[in-house]
Amino acid sequence: MWAGRFSGKPDKLMQEFSQSVSFDQRLWREDIQGSLAYASELQRIGILSEKELAAIRGGFETITKEIEGGKFEWKVELEDVHMNIESRLTELIGDAGKKLHTGRSRNDQVATDFRLWCAERAGDLVRASRKLQRAIVERAHETTDVVIPAYTHLQRAMPVLMAHHLASYADAIQSDAGAFLNGRFSSLSELPLGSGACSGNSFPVDMQALASALGFEKPSLNSMSAVSSRDFALYLVFACARAMTHLSRIAEDMILWSSVEFGFVTLGDAVTTGSSIMPQKRNPDACELIRGKTGRVVGHLMALFTLLKGLPMTYNRDLQEDKEAVFDATDQTLACLRVMALVFSKENFHVNRERIQQQLDSGAGYMEAMNVADWLVLQGVPFRDGHDITGRLVKYVESKDMRFADLTAEDLQAVDKRLKPELLKELSLEALVERKQVYAGTARKQVEARLKELKDWLGNNDE
Ligand code: ARG
Repeated sequence: MWAGRFSGKPDKLMQEFSQSVSFDQRLWREDIQGSLAYASELQRIGILSEKELAAIRGGFETITKEIEGGKFEWKVELEDVHMNIESRLTELIGDAGKKLHTGRSRNDQVATDFRLWCAERAGDLVRASRKLQRAIVERAHETTDVVIPAYTHLQRAMPVLMAHHLASYADAIQSDAGAFLNGRFSSLSELPLGSGACSGNSFPVDMQALASALGFEKPSLNSMSAVSSRDFALYLVFACARAMTHLSRIAEDMILWSSVEFGFVTLGDAVTTGSSIMPQKRNPDACELIRGKTGRVVGHLMALFTLLKGLPMTYNRDLQEDKEAVFDATDQTLACLRVMALVFSKENFHVNRERIQQQLDSGAGYMEAMNVADWLVLQGVPFRDGHDITGRLVKYVESKDMRFADLTAEDLQAVDKRLKPELLKELSLEALVERKQVYAGTARKQVEARLKELKDWLGNNDE
């Protein structure tokens, strides 16, 4: 298609090296969509006749069927999705096909196709995020009566409702869905089509009309940035990297929770695997793979930044390397969101209430101590003094190898006269949970209110 000024052909090795059709054929739908809108514009300005436009539309219908039916023959020698489709169109309808590229370049074409593709993909990612949020919120509803330790520094810190912990995941995914929507917004914010190779179109196509026909907010303001910017791809892959970072942390929690040491949950057969040597094993592979794939997706974000950082204006062939990064980053993220939803399904997420209770009953970690400090404050003792008194009580409990639950009025008095017997009734972890009545705290009423908000919101929004 560009052979005119050449006498030789590219080397076979070069052909294989430079082709992108093996992966960019994924853009075929968007390529046809963009071409159809462009063809209508060419007809409006008199470059194509009504008849030629009809032929182009018919040709694209045939090509669509061929591709959908797996009958389309993709040719490496035609380099990319754009030339493959245009060449087939010309084969099918003759000269009208050859007129389609008037004023257009693959540079504005690929930027347009890719933006459309990213926008569609962002929608898929948002929907998958919502599904995962729904599963998590359902599990949270079922665990508003389960108290677990919350950890800081991976040391037992404060008792919380498991529902509160799970709702924090739904919260993280909520903000990821927002980032995916940003990716979609950025993709559709400016239409490159009409910008030609880099300097604009020689023919009076109406870019405003093209933008509305293709669902873009407006045409690009500058033909040079139109063909060279990949900011939209950065936004989308950043959103993927961020969502994966959240998923990886959730995965890590689930890997810990399903270990014998924690034993808070057992993950179902559908998301775990066995060992080929140790018959007793149940490995949390789904979560481990999600954690593992995170590095790969973050790597794609780095690859994109590095790809872009040294490019002179405007289009450079380097930009062809943007696609596999975005394809793989979004494929992996979508898969991980879906698998994580499976992990949190009713069938696969089993809470071990008794085991959790045993862990709490052991008294390890002395989370009850905070009750004492809070109680002393309510008795008018300054918090810093209360902290010190409580610290001494912890030391006492530890040195006697006992639990807070075993403390007697005499023990309290032995540590500090301000520790009155009434305190003994205040020591339960449940009481400590219930004291967190502040907005967004872990008291049951607060957690239920936040869950209801999330649930109502999810009920009304698929996107
Ligand atoms: N396959 C190319 C890409 O993905 C399409 C644009 C090619 N443009 C060019 N001037 N060679 O970037």
